[in-house]
Amino acid sequence: MLLISTVALVATLGSIGATAAPNKLHSQRANQPKQNVPRYSGPPKYTVNQERADAVKQAFQISWDGYSKYAFPHDSLRPVKNRYYDDRNGWGASAIDAISTALVMKNWDAVEQIVQYIPKIDFSKTTDDVSLFETTIRYLGGLLSAYDLMSANATGHTFAPSDLSAILEQAVHLADNLKVAFDTPSGVPDNDLRFDPPRRVGSETNGLATIGTLVLEWTRLSDLTGNPEYAKLAQRGEGYLLDPQPRELGEPFPGLLGTDVNITTGKFVDGSGGWGGGDDSFYEYLIKMYLYDPVRFPTYRDRWTAAVDSSIKYLVSHPTSRPDLTYLAMWDNQTLQFYGEHLACFNGGNFILGGILLDRPEYITFGLELVDSCRNTYISTSTNIGPETFRWQDSRTPLNASNNPAPPSGMKDFYAASGFWIDSPNYVLRPEVIESYYYAYRATGDAKYQEWAWDAFLAINGTCRVGSGYSSVNDVNAPLGGGFSDFQESFWFAEVLKYSYLIHAEDAVWQVQANPGGNEFVYNTECHPIRVARGGKP
Ligand SMILES: *[C@@H]1O[C@H](CO)[C@@H](O)[C@H](O)[C@H]1NC(C)=O
Ligand SMILES: *[C@@H]1O[C@H](CO)[C@@H](O)[C@H](O)[C@H]1NC(C)=O
Ligand SMILES: *[C@@H]1O[C@H](CO)[C@@H](O)[C@H](O)[C@H]1NC(C)=O
Ligand SMILES: *[C@@H]1O[C@H](CO)[C@@H](O)[C@H](O)[C@H]1NC(C)=O
Ligand SMILES: *[C@@H]1O[C@H](CO)[C@@H](O)[C@H](O)[C@H]1NC(C)=O
Repeated sequence: MLLISTVALVATLGSIGATAAPNKLHSQRANQPKQNVPRYSGPPKYTVNQERADAVKQAFQISWDGYSKYAFPHDSLRPVKNRYYDDRNGWGASAIDAISTALVMKNWDAVEQIVQYIPKIDFSKTTDDVSLFETTIRYLGGLLSAYDLMSANATGHTFAPSDLSAILEQAVHLADNLKVAFDTPSGVPDNDLRFDPPRRVGSETNGLATIGTLVLEWTRLSDLTGNPEYAKLAQRGEGYLLDPQPRELGEPFPGLLGTDVNITTGKFVDGSGGWGGGDDSFYEYLIKMYLYDPVRFPTYRDRWTAAVDSSIKYLVSHPTSRPDLTYLAMWDNQTLQFYGEHLACFNGGNFILGGILLDRPEYITFGLELVDSCRNTYISTSTNIGPETFRWQDSRTPLNASNNPAPPSGMKDFYAASGFWIDSPNYVLRPEVIESYYYAYRATGDAKYQEWAWDAFLAINGTCRVGSGYSSVNDVNAPLGGGFSDFQESFWFAEVLKYSYLIHAEDAVWQVQANPGGNEFVYNTECHPIRVARGGKP
């Protein structure tokens, strides 16, 4: 869902030597027989676990109380020092990221506090640089989701029409300040802005995820307001990703793209990518746009299918020490990189969602394999939380190839047992592994995924709970998580707490449904549920 610097990624990957023809690389999947998912034949049986749902609600309350007391209406809580930090322009990121979770949990006190606050935000002023992407997924997504959940009686609680219109007005106010980002020669947006007055910083390139994770929110805003401008801007920028040029650089495998795009020309400037940070949510949104409106977005579906088919054909990788595990490699042109990220672990859930929507049980089966392997990164560490980044040695690439190094000596035993070694050991309250458990559970109804989500929640609750909230930790494989970095990310509210809650909670109109035509909401990459608009009708 979120972004890590691709510059940092490329730096850690180092120089690349060996290349191989992709069709000779991982063109077949070895391995154990996998349990196949049957075609959809009625909804799975879901089991409510009220005690667990209530425990997650309690964690929300602790976090909200700490934020309310020491940080509101600033962006984020520093729970150890009981201070705030304005990491998202000082508009109250945690409040806006929390509202859709407060709504699905029916925490009316928190909802009321946030609803009263929203009209007071001045989205035209900030002293820091503004990220178009982060602002869109957290603030615009949070506001639109609040509007969608509060209107049409989705929660069963009635809200004043004036509260609803104030939320939509603020979404428009925000987008009107952001839209200067699209004022580039190509229409590919500049991610980096300054405000008052709104203007571009002047970056030369923008990345795949930061260009390609706007279209859901900006299209929704047009559908709700009747003003087509927002959708047109986001879809024009996205057009360069749906038809990447020059193809020989920008699309190393069918449907799988490079990362950086020249804002002046709309052309790709590199051919490195993956399902991880910097690229991730571009692929995620292709299938989610099809869910949002299959009438308007069939091309997005086709591009998603191409990406997924290529991933299964070319990227599948099994570690030498644990061939039972399945990871997806990243790529640099057509050279594979055996590198994984917590962020990339949304991919299992995304394959499963696509499998549901397109009635392709084999995508669900494959997604479940990815979910298993991401769980393995959790259960292999001493805290039972997975690391930020990890690596492995691929079993079908020569062991002396320069893109297939052995683990560092200190990690040999860990690698032998676990099938990966830890690269960056921190955990920053990210959701992706629990997110994928949620999709796995909603697709299959298998209670095993509820157990896994509960285990992860207990591990996070046990390791990250500190002072007035929950904090990122430095080392998931050290006692007590290796110490706190004293920061509670706003997406803790939007994502970790929401997925952890929904997997145990009663069925509801916003829950993901296993019936291909049964989904009334689509989750943006920050886990804000947006009402779908089939045929352009909001
Ligand atoms: C809203 O939902 C509640 C609970 O489901 C129901 O009692 C109420 O009649 C609904 N109100 C409207 C206006 O549909
Ligand atoms: C982007 O394209 C413009 C126009 O062709 C060129 O002048 C500029 O150097 C390019 N920048 C990058 C980073 O490729
Ligand atoms: C990727 O391919 C392009 C175009 O062929 C080339 O210029 C570039 O050096 C390659 N990058 C790497 C890391 O091999
Ligand atoms: C790897 O080992 C094989 C067999 O010993 C050898 O033929 C090949 O040249 C080596 N490759 C590299 C990149 O060292
Ligand atoms: C979560 O942690 C808190 C504080 O340590 C503890 O009181 C609570 O019982 C924990 N929740 C669960 C479900 O274990």
